[in-house]
Amino acid sequence: MKYFFQPGRMSDLAWAELCSVVSNFAPGVVVKRLNGRIFFVDITSGTIDIIKIFQRLGGFIRVGEMIENLDLFLEYFNQKNITFGVSPDIYGQGNYIEVANEVKDFFKEKGVSSRYIITENTASVIHNNLIDDGFELLVLDLGKDMVLGRTLAVQDIEEYAVRDFDRPNIDKKMGMLPPKLARIMVNLLGMPDEGTVWDPFCGSGTILTEALTLGYSVLGSDIDKKAIRNSNANIEWTLERIKFNNQRYRTFIFDILDPDRAMIKTLSKTQIDGVAFEPFMGPPQRNIVKIGRAQELIMGVSDQLKAFVELTRGINLRGKKVVFVNPSYKSESGWVSLRLNQIIPKSWYRSFSNEKLELYWERPHSIIRRNILIYTVK
Ligand SMILES: C[S@@+](CC[C@H](N)C(=O)[O-])C[C@H]1O[C@@H](n2cnc3c(N)ncnc32)[C@H](O)[C@@H]1O
Repeated sequence: MKYFFQPGRMSDLAWAELCSVVSNFAPGVVVKRLNGRIFFVDITSGTIDIIKIFQRLGGFIRVGEMIENLDLFLEYFNQKNITFGVSPDIYGQGNYIEVANEVKDFFKEKGVSSRYIITENTASVIHNNLIDDGFELLVLDLGKDMVLGRTLAVQDIEEYAVRDFDRPNIDKKMGMLPPKLARIMVNLLGMPDEGTVWDPFCGSGTILTEALTLGYSVLGSDIDKKAIRNSNANIEWTLERIKFNNQRYRTFIFDILDPDRAMIKTLSKTQIDGVAFEPFMGPPQRNIVKIGRAQELIMGVSDQLKAFVELTRGINLRGKKVVFVNPSYKSESGWVSLRLNQIIPKSWYRSFSNEKLELYWERPHSIIRRNILIYTVK
């Protein structure tokens, strides 16, 4: 069976996330990318739960199956009426209205009356209950051929909004990661379905709560007492909402720039399977910054990254992945970024370093771009 995955806005980052999750949960399955807007996997044998894989992902909007012929809709022939959706997200030259009318004619021939809704976004798929009570079509471009796809699941946008805005404690001044990005970062660690993730700049705990939701145990540390209180409250709230598999969590105060020796010793004896973090990037910036200010901000990030690398020498992270945000700031003279080659040891292996891939997360018109780096510690 052939499946398609539709990424959100950050398609390169989504691509890296999908490859990472598939290599772990469906080893041997190849993810094909014919263009930046839709990816395909072909599952020839075994019992791979494609919806479960999709539900782990933070960077995707839809997953679906490719339709070889319309007889797939046989199940609807005993119905009098059927409502289906057709997405205007077209990949290639196909005309989705034409396709929708052809499907309508097909049903008419079989004596079933049908109507279609143009599904402008995934919310309309959910609100019209199209997955359970009908179906949604997509016209997919396979390079030389055009084929139809049927949606199997869509991203639960409302659940992400609840996790983003309804958690008990947030701290906008310190900067918060969007939960979708936190989830992508945890997935990029490529860990099997168990293990412990450490976030040494945990803030309100977005990475920690997404990692718990994915089934991992977590360690969170931060210089700030209030951040630890916020993380604890958000973790407790999350644990009440998710199916909890006895994962463990521990949070503690820890200054990366002046690390407590006793704590380093404890960390060196603690099993850590992956580290994901966003360092402190300065107070939220609303306007384009002066070049001097941008340089000041990246120097702050540089100090934290250097301190983290130094710390890894005392903690056994060999062979483990580290995924972190390296911000770029929009200044009057263009984007200013920290060069990592002086900071990250040459021996650390960088994944997805292909120059053509732009692994970053950015809000429209934002003046901060979050570049996502993935390294394996040597
Ligand atoms: C950008 S926030 C992290 C946001 C977090 N991922 C979230 O979504 O809530 C950075 C955090 O780094 C912490 N921090 C700043 N300097 C630190 C240091 N020297 N050691 C450890 N944590 C530090 C801040 O207190 C802040 O909570």
